[in-house]
Amino acid sequence: MINPWSSSDFFDYERLKRDFGIGDMNVDFDHFLFRRHLILGQRSIEYIDYTLKHNLKFNVMTGLMPSGEMHLGNKSAIDQVIFFQRLGGRVSIAVADLESYSTRGISLEKAREVAIEKYILNYIAMGLEPCEIYFQSRNSDVQFLAYMLGNRTNMNELRSLYGFTDTHDLLHINSPLIQAADVLHTQMKKYGGPAPTVVPVGFDQDPHLRLMRDLAKRMRVFNIQYDRDLIVSVKGKDDPKEFIDMAYDYLSKRFDGVKKDYEYRVVRAEGVNQEDLVSIDLDLAGMESHYNDFTFIAPSATYQKLMKGLKGGKMSSSVPDSLISLNDDPKNARRKIMAGMTGGRDTEEEQRKLGGEPDRCPIFDLYNYEVDDDRYVKEVYDDCRNGKRMCGFCKREIADRMSGWLSELQKKREEAREKLSLYVHE
Ligand code: TRP
Repeated sequence: MINPWSSSDFFDYERLKRDFGIGDMNVDFDHFLFRRHLILGQRSIEYIDYTLKHNLKFNVMTGLMPSGEMHLGNKSAIDQVIFFQRLGGRVSIAVADLESYSTRGISLEKAREVAIEKYILNYIAMGLEPCEIYFQSRNSDVQFLAYMLGNRTNMNELRSLYGFTDTHDLLHINSPLIQAADVLHTQMKKYGGPAPTVVPVGFDQDPHLRLMRDLAKRMRVFNIQYDRDLIVSVKGKDDPKEFIDMAYDYLSKRFDGVKKDYEYRVVRAEGVNQEDLVSIDLDLAGMESHYNDFTFIAPSATYQKLMKGLKGGKMSSSVPDSLISLNDDPKNARRKIMAGMTGGRDTEEEQRKLGGEPDRCPIFDLYNYEVDDDRYVKEVYDDCRNGKRMCGFCKREIADRMSGWLSELQKKREEAREKLSLYVHE
């Protein structure tokens, strides 16, 4: 089981992917986080791929937990959001102030301040274009949807997903429903209707993804299943006939040998290619959405590898010297980098002979996650492995880069303040 509120260590990603059915990242997106396999898992990313290839609309959704610091470890989700925004995605970002209230006891006022000062100003400074950033506590559509989603799950499911026990308070138990509503509400009629939605996350968030994807399907009238034949089942309507006919007519136009069965509430089509499933699902959702305001395409997700902390382990808010915060004073960042652990050997001589170990080096992670020149990063990697690059030099070089970047960000944050109202609309 993964506990999203207290995952303290690295995961065995490949095992996790196998156990929970997270796919390999098999689509070539042109961003270094993808090229370098720092994003190494996905769920239903073919929806986003399809949408991009056919120039259709799609959503990008993420949320921020307004506690602690925005640091490099949680920056790569925003790098992805900006990347997908540039590809045409419509961005929504939730400030998870209800979640931080219910799981960490942070007041709504404090959450607001932290969200704006430590996170949102940085997002804008990083180049996020105007989009929709909202507070869970003030979004009645999200709260209403969370309430309705509660009808489609129960304690058994939440217990097995999150390990909830009888002593967990109801707000905490409710918080996964709020998060599901964060993501799914972007597909309600008022927000543009059903559309593929990509959620960049860390592996610790996977229980939320599993829940919200299942909830999305449970709210649907049409559900598709596939094993060489396509089966569309029709659910939750007093009179399913109309919907069965609708699916039948639609599929008959595209495929031969389509059959319908009123008793079992299914429509069956033979000879459907797997590649057609996305477009079929999108078409059916489009039809359904005229009748069902909760017509959701199950959200897609990308899973990123955790960045190493400068003190070993993962980069985490709970170890201040392990992280580079986007709000760090450049001098302080330099100090932390210079004091950081490396993948170097005990002596210089040994390092020249054996080479360093960039794969377990937090300093190399700074290059890998923050320097976008692929050739240069590869050179750093190779030179380290070959014993040509020493840790002191490497640290100074990346400390220069990072502190330069941080002081630039500082300036841009001040300019960002004037633009806040283009992002936070209330
Ligand atoms: N639970 C997330 C975290 O701990 C924050 C979050 C809230 C979120 N709503 C979301 C993330 C929707 C992705 C999508 O960081």
